[in-house]
Amino acid sequence: MSYLEDMAKQIDTIDINGPEPTKEPERQYYFMAKMKHVVKEKSERLGRPLKALINTFGCQMNERDSEKLLGVLQQIGYEVAEGEDDADIILFNTCTVRDNADQRVFGRLGVLKHKKEKNPELIIGLCGCMMQETLVIQKIQKSYPYVDLIFGTHNLYKLAELLYTIHETDAPVVDIWEDAKEIIEDLPVERKYKFKSGVNIMFGCNNFCSYCIVPYVRGRERSRNPKDIIREIENLVADGVKEVMLLGQNVNSYGKGLEPNVTFAELLQEVVKIEGLERVRFMSSHPKDLSDDLIKVMASSDKICRHMHLALQSGSDRLLEKMNRHYTKEKYLEIVRKMREAMPDLAITTDIIVGFPGETVEDVNETIDIVKKAKFDGAFTFIYSKRTGTPAAAMPDQCSEEFVKEQFDRVLTTVQETAKEQAARFTGQTVKVMVEGRNDKDESMVTGRMSQNTVVHFKGDASLIGSIVDVHLDECLGFYYMGTKKS
Ligand code: SAM
Ligand code: SF4
Ligand code: F3S
Repeated sequence: MSYLEDMAKQIDTIDINGPEPTKEPERQYYFMAKMKHVVKEKSERLGRPLKALINTFGCQMNERDSEKLLGVLQQIGYEVAEGEDDADIILFNTCTVRDNADQRVFGRLGVLKHKKEKNPELIIGLCGCMMQETLVIQKIQKSYPYVDLIFGTHNLYKLAELLYTIHETDAPVVDIWEDAKEIIEDLPVERKYKFKSGVNIMFGCNNFCSYCIVPYVRGRERSRNPKDIIREIENLVADGVKEVMLLGQNVNSYGKGLEPNVTFAELLQEVVKIEGLERVRFMSSHPKDLSDDLIKVMASSDKICRHMHLALQSGSDRLLEKMNRHYTKEKYLEIVRKMREAMPDLAITTDIIVGFPGETVEDVNETIDIVKKAKFDGAFTFIYSKRTGTPAAAMPDQCSEEFVKEQFDRVLTTVQETAKEQAARFTGQTVKVMVEGRNDKDESMVTGRMSQNTVVHFKGDASLIGSIVDVHLDECLGFYYMGTKKS
């Protein structure tokens, strides 16, 4: 039995009247046990189970954090709510990478006001990246006083303890830590998918790209011990997981500061040895730290998916320097060339920002040029968003809205053209597809992903979900395929 299962089984045997443990994760299991009683009592009083809803914004890191939050809520007795209307607790796990992410959260919060008026016992909680900003907290306290719980990115694991404090004090709780302390292992997790899972290999970011808020809200880079990562993946595989995605803001700098030092390529080599694990993905890679060793390890194992997400941001050397990215257009293209040579079937996707302060038509032309040369299989194109506290926010010559809109459309058109061409290159081949779910529009079909992360739709029933099957790619329709399952 794993340590985690062991702890979960023991929850009911924990003496909740005994002293609070000071060590983690024992302390959190103690508060889970206490909260379990609170939830049970309330549920008996209301004559129905209590339900929880987590609304997740942002990246895979937040998705994984939400699985951990749900793990705790389920341990203490909450069931999953269908929507906000049948929830007894609503948690927003927030993102602040661009201003529109903040606005979405404020918009949803406004709606919750009426729900709280109708049901004063409803607990409304906010956590995640946005909560690490002082101005945000001030705004919430002033304009949304009905929020019961605010916590940040560094103390997410304390959910049970914080809920218990609300119960005891009957007052709102705000608990924000400036920095991360230790990495707490072995807390409960409730996965969204049975057959695939994200796995954090590191937290935080040290890169301080001049436009980006993430290092300020996620703290300094910390790598997990390889033994803990391998043990987690082994447990996941024993629980039915076939595909893992190794998560970090810059996985290529994994291992710095660990004793003994381990590189990301070395970690990957260990991960692919895990028996029963069929696919490994990772996200995100930073071009400045991408090593030849990583390319070698990727090429040497079929288990490692043929997909590399490598954020470019801009094709202009002048802007790349102002962005503090530490590579040039040439260096980026050189990495692309090496990767395509080692793995001709590799899909390369990227992130691009348009409208960084001081950007000119010539800078955008450089970006369009590299998009054509690198032949990206896909790209997320973002309009630059000014984030208070970052160096770029204080730079002069912020671009006009009109200019940005025009240039954004130019970049997007080029990205779509190359991606369309790239996607179609596998037509006629038979490839392995991991079936992820039923097709949204047609009940007789299922939807899955190729190693390259490209979506494939084909005839099949729900019994295929979670399996990896051979599919003939009949036709490429833009960015996805229609296929036929081989028997
Ligand atoms: N760490 C990842 C990397 O560097 O590859 C990126 C993580 S970030 C959450 C995802 C993307 O958001 C970035 O690659 C960048 O393109 C975009 N982004 C970050 N800050 C932004 C800003 N202020 N305005 C617009 N886009 C931004
Ligand atoms: Fe942000 Fe740059 Fe860190 Fe990515 S590497 S999270 S873009 S600071
Ligand atoms: Fe957003 Fe935080 Fe991820 S700011 S993109 S949720 S690390």
